[in-house]
Amino acid sequence: MTQIIAIAMQKGGVGKTTTAVNLAAALTEQGQRVLAIDLDPQSNLTQHCGFDPDHISPTIYDTLKAEIEGHENHVANSIYQTEEGFHLLPSQPELSLTELALINTLSRERVLWTILEPVVNQYDYILIDCNPSLGLLVVNALTAATHVIIPIQAEYLAARGALMILSSIETVRRKKLNAHLDIAGILLTMADTRTILAQDIHDAIKEQYGDDIRIFDTVVKRSIRFAESAAAGQSILAYDGKSQGAAAYRQVASELLQ
Ligand SMILES: Nc1ncnc2c1ncn2[C@@H]1O[C@H](COP(=O)(O)OP(=O)(O)O)[C@@H](O)[C@H]1O
Ligand SMILES: [Mg+2]
Repeated sequence: MTQIIAIAMQKGGVGKTTTAVNLAAALTEQGQRVLAIDLDPQSNLTQHCGFDPDHISPTIYDTLKAEIEGHENHVANSIYQTEEGFHLLPSQPELSLTELALINTLSRERVLWTILEPVVNQYDYILIDCNPSLGLLVVNALTAATHVIIPIQAEYLAARGALMILSSIETVRRKKLNAHLDIAGILLTMADTRTILAQDIHDAIKEQYGDDIRIFDTVVKRSIRFAESAAAGQSILAYDGKSQGAAAYRQVASELLQ
């Protein structure tokens, strides 16, 4: 069965897009058929995969727009092969209009699922890179997903309400939009191990959110290689396959595959 993983967190700059592209590359390396979906109008994932969001067409925006307006537009038309072997359903800045258009749409939480359904069986993993909000695009991702990965910046933990995304997940379950939505885990990113011990972070999460929230064993450490690989339009596995960052995301992929 296809695992559809929403990578979601209401805060920006926590490593959602970095996790999406590098997990896509790592799962591909391990023989999985992967589709990465850019569901953020900022289109960072699209750029990170080496495409120009201002000059790529059609995108997920066109497919969602067609669905909302009742026109034909098969999602396969908007899926592109990346140089690293996985597939990309890219975004463009106009996707920000979709959030508004969805409000008055029938079954507005299920539009993403409706457009994806015809291609789901072609993949082992579908990774959805969410925008940093708790809006309708994110609710669509949580409704379509089987699992959620929540990346958090290690130092951000102390703040109360750090994981407001958890209440969105709970709402999606309770409203029966997706009763079986599962949390694959919290992924600690950008850890500066000189100042924060991974174990302390694990303990703080357990204390704040209880034992039922899983946490990936892998902790992704801070490295300049991530920004460099983003600028190069490559995953860190392609940009510097022997780096610690590449190893970390290979390990996250292995944890998922188990
Ligand atoms: N482990 C890391 N170490 C250092 N920089 C990182 C790491 N992960 C991500 N970054 C950088 O931090 C910035 C924000 O990451 P990004 O994945 O775009 O976050 P989000 O999608 O949650 O907004 C980007 O410039 C990215 O290259
Ligand atoms: Mg992002």
